[in-house]
Amino acid sequence: MTSVAPGADRLVAVSDAQPETQNAGRFIVFEGGDGAGKSTQAALLAEALRGNGHAVLLTREPGGTQIGEKLRALVLDHGQGTVDARTEALMYAAARAAHVEQVIRPALAAGTMVICDRFVDSSLAYQGVGRALGVDAVRSINDFATGGLSPDLTVLLDVSPADGRSRRTVGADGATLAEDRLESEPDEFHLRIRDAFLLLASRNPQRYLVLDASTGVSALAAAIDAALEGFLDGPEA
Ligand code: TYD
Repeated sequence: MTSVAPGADRLVAVSDAQPETQNAGRFIVFEGGDGAGKSTQAALLAEALRGNGHAVLLTREPGGTQIGEKLRALVLDHGQGTVDARTEALMYAAARAAHVEQVIRPALAAGTMVICDRFVDSSLAYQGVGRALGVDAVRSINDFATGGLSPDLTVLLDVSPADGRSRRTVGADGATLAEDRLESEPDEFHLRIRDAFLLLASRNPQRYLVLDASTGVSALAAAIDAALEGFLDGPEA
């Protein structure tokens, strides 16, 4: 049986949720700790939605634009000198501003389903809580960056720091994979981030689907498909 964290059962019919903006498309975000499997699940959902006749844009943060990918390398690669917490928060927010303006809003306006690997909640958790800048401060720079755009649904893949680390550091062939600047923070940092994500989800349960990431790729994909049945019926359903 798929293990579903508290809150998932309160996910109302997503297709009936009222987006804050008058977008034609829907905005679905995947969040969670490093090694949770977000990218895999985001790609599987994109495939399922395309199979049901939707136009889908699969994108990620930081990144998604030319400037965003450059900022991604600056903020994640080791060896860029000191990246203090405020600078880090502003770099993620700058990449996000470009992404929203140049890619996400135009796609939503054109009726495209936008699936994004990480969004504002990652900044609230990693910079607001992980770097202790404060959730309110980080939220306010992100409100400026996004113009208030928020996801119609956030799928939170909950992973323990130990599981996340072992998943992201061991490749499919058993080879050891290097961790980026954020990933290489200690378990204590990743534990605070996990708690922050769960708290964000618990405050707005109708906008979150919280799933235990340890249940395996196909069980997770099935749980996400089931919760998104309204989307998967096709654009005219
Ligand atoms: P991630 O999606 O995990 O990249 P990959 O799976 O390709 O390694 O994101 C990269 C890192 O950036 C991750 O450790 C979380 C961090 N991050 C923030 O700290 N704040 C943010 O706003 C975002 C979007 C990511």
